[in-house]
Amino acid sequence: MKRREFLSSTLAIAAASLAPRSTRAADGLVEILMNEPVGDIAPEFHGHFTEHLGGVIYDGIWVGENSKIPNVGGIRKALVDRMRQLNAPVVRWAGGCFADSYNWRDGTGPRAKRPVRTNFWTNDPDLWKAADGPQKFEPNTFGTYEFMRFCQLCGAKPYLAANVRSLTPNDFDEWVDYCNSPAGSTTLAATRAADGSKEPFNVVYWGIGNESWGCGGDFKPEEYATEFRRFTAWVPDYGLKLRFIASGPGTAVQDAQIAWTRGFFEGLLAKGPEELAHLYGLSMHYYCWTTGKGDSLDYTVDDWYQLLWQADVMDSLVNKHWLAMGEFDKEHKVKLVVDEWGAWHRGPAIDPRYLFSYVPTMRDALVTGINLDIFNRHAEKLAMCNDAQLVNCIHTLFLAREDRFAPTTIFHVFDMYKSHQGGRSLRFVSSAPSISYGAGKSLWGLEGSASVHGKTLVVTVVNPHASEPRVADVVLRGASARSAQVTVLAAPDIHAHNDFDHPQAVEPKTEPANVAGSSFSWTFKPASVTKLEIDLA
Ligand code: AHR
Repeated sequence: MKRREFLSSTLAIAAASLAPRSTRAADGLVEILMNEPVGDIAPEFHGHFTEHLGGVIYDGIWVGENSKIPNVGGIRKALVDRMRQLNAPVVRWAGGCFADSYNWRDGTGPRAKRPVRTNFWTNDPDLWKAADGPQKFEPNTFGTYEFMRFCQLCGAKPYLAANVRSLTPNDFDEWVDYCNSPAGSTTLAATRAADGSKEPFNVVYWGIGNESWGCGGDFKPEEYATEFRRFTAWVPDYGLKLRFIASGPGTAVQDAQIAWTRGFFEGLLAKGPEELAHLYGLSMHYYCWTTGKGDSLDYTVDDWYQLLWQADVMDSLVNKHWLAMGEFDKEHKVKLVVDEWGAWHRGPAIDPRYLFSYVPTMRDALVTGINLDIFNRHAEKLAMCNDAQLVNCIHTLFLAREDRFAPTTIFHVFDMYKSHQGGRSLRFVSSAPSISYGAGKSLWGLEGSASVHGKTLVVTVVNPHASEPRVADVVLRGASARSAQVTVLAAPDIHAHNDFDHPQAVEPKTEPANVAGSSFSWTFKPASVTKLEIDLA
């Protein structure tokens, strides 16, 4: 008998003796194994990504110092306030595909004198048809100093992506010099001081290119491995432990790009096992996509389930790549960095220049819960994860256009899940009747994750059923609840969303939860994300 079946059958017997508080009989089970820690939930699992793409930087983050929009030195204040609310740990910049076309020097010096360049994304037919603006012709007003200022204001660490496709290792070394050399030491330290920061930024996270199999250079994995060695071997570190992240596999469900992961490691280690020492993490990108005829706002119940099913593929991708990495790195010193993830839809943009700036709904909220739970359940394998992207773009936490600003459903899930940050992930086992949809397809009935923080247990659960609540017995193996509070994000309509006219249409609700003991019954609302914060006896 498999472990899961064993647990299901024994706990079903235990559950039968419980007195469920709901009038419906429990047909679900959520079990938290207090004595089976999985790993620590690094705050960095809740990282973000900001690319010079559409309305992310210009109008999203940067509004300009002379703007009537409330700002801190040109940076949108409402965004900073919300990032602080989230305890946002880390932000990736400047791309994405943009990174491998970006010369960091363009974003230094007096802002008015910086060069204007053609943005990487100008090739996109929708952007090309749209009106001119900084989204098409990059003014470089927002450069390294401005990004660092944004991170400092948010209380987040910076994660920069080097240009491997069109710059050299020497350019990379000099970017590190500009960022990290001591005050008053080098010509680039003086440039940094003139830009606004005498003190070094002490950037630790450095991505070596982006999607190097595609927009980052069209490399073969072994070719990229050589570039990785060239870029990382003799970089000035100024006494810091730099963390280099290699460009890893991306995205399609059918093709997990295991060949890239294996090819990269083979190429890297061809020179010797000591090469692993330069590698902190392997990046992985995975998006789920709109299927059928719909778009971000217009979808059927089947489309809903199909997207959630796709989101769940992240779980197997993490496992597959982790296993492949273990073939070369037996002790698993190198971690996975899922530095782009989210649901990428078709959909009406909030401004034609802001590529992919559709409005997220409850469906995207559940995609967020599913992914953040997966990251918790794989805590020992991951070093960082970055939602793509922060504002006005794919899987966005915020919509911003001129003086209008709205947190999306995705923001609210991040806000709920921040309670997991810094906790110890515990083995989470769930079972519930699976949901049938489409032509012979099915999706699990309940999933989630759990973390312990001293005497507090945080449990998050997604009920994907579009219309039915799920009653489950929640069993704490090795602990007992004294009291709890519950936060639920749910809405009567699976299409519910926030936008500029209705910025508070969907918001989570928090209230005391009447639970006690080592097992209790809980009803998870339809199409919902739930967080139970439990004080342990
Ligand atoms: O996030 C949008 C794009 O998706 C990124 O620029 C690229 O890395 C990925 O393909």
